[in-house]
Amino acid sequence: MTARGGQGQGASTEEKIRGIYGLLKMNIDMVRGIRSRKTSAAAYFHFDLNCGCGWNHRVNPPHGVMGSPLVFLQAAVDTGFDNYRAWFVDENPQATDELIRQAELMTTDGSIESELSVVTSDNGDFCESIPDFIKQGGDRPEFALGTILLDPNGPNGVPWAQLQAVFAQCERLDCIFNFPGTGMKRLPEGHINRVQLKDVPELFRKSHWLVREPMPSQQFTLLMGRNTESGDWSKAGFHHWDSRRGREIREEVSSPARSYVHPDQGTFDF
Ligand SMILES: C[S@@+](CC[C@H](N)C(=O)[O-])C[C@H]1O[C@@H](n2cnc3c(N)ncnc32)[C@H](O)[C@@H]1O
Repeated sequence: MTARGGQGQGASTEEKIRGIYGLLKMNIDMVRGIRSRKTSAAAYFHFDLNCGCGWNHRVNPPHGVMGSPLVFLQAAVDTGFDNYRAWFVDENPQATDELIRQAELMTTDGSIESELSVVTSDNGDFCESIPDFIKQGGDRPEFALGTILLDPNGPNGVPWAQLQAVFAQCERLDCIFNFPGTGMKRLPEGHINRVQLKDVPELFRKSHWLVREPMPSQQFTLLMGRNTESGDWSKAGFHHWDSRRGREIREEVSSPARSYVHPDQGTFDF
């Protein structure tokens, strides 16, 4: 299991990307509807905090599969909504260098548009600037609509405390989280953070969540949280958090397969 660094790619990557595309498209469409009713010119704000290099070269050979930044751009093109500002963040400079080239390929005139920023940074440090970026983008943090996307390799790469602070200020930004189920249970960083799936809604202050069927590989489980009610999307495997299937999934993702209770050391989860 990869805990840190690198762009984790595997059997589930394509399915992850399909899920992220569907959620982003749904969100952008919804914001477009709200904006047109209110005749507001405010932008859609998107922050991809584990953006990677833009292309997953090692899966679906020889073509590969789009990465999350290009998926966002594709969803914007497909919804016909171009009033967005997007920040793509990764700590790995090789990834961000390649992403700049990939994003150039996707834009019509071969240059990165002014609405896109590719940032080489630790995502925790970056989070602290999100409210200011929103203000510079012409909106107020408490009113801004958009998404924060989290797609870590494991428990590392999720700046829990900084995200808590951002979501406290930006309550209308939705959260899309590819939750590393097995990693949170089994890797030391998961144990140190002690964040479990059940804690995520309160931590990120979102009252309505969808939870998707976990991927067979390492129980990566896509979540979407927002503060407005929305329908489920069970056709694509997304269930309401409190539905029967939603509760079952949460139980599966949270429970160790087996536990061993050591008389002195406490419980060890297999
Ligand atoms: C699973 S990959 C992302 C894949 C990408 N979202 C996609 O769809 O192709 C996780 C990424 O998180 C980045 N990462 C890990 N820790 C980070 C941190 N503290 N700050 C910023 N990026 C981080 C890694 O460099 C890696 O590129």
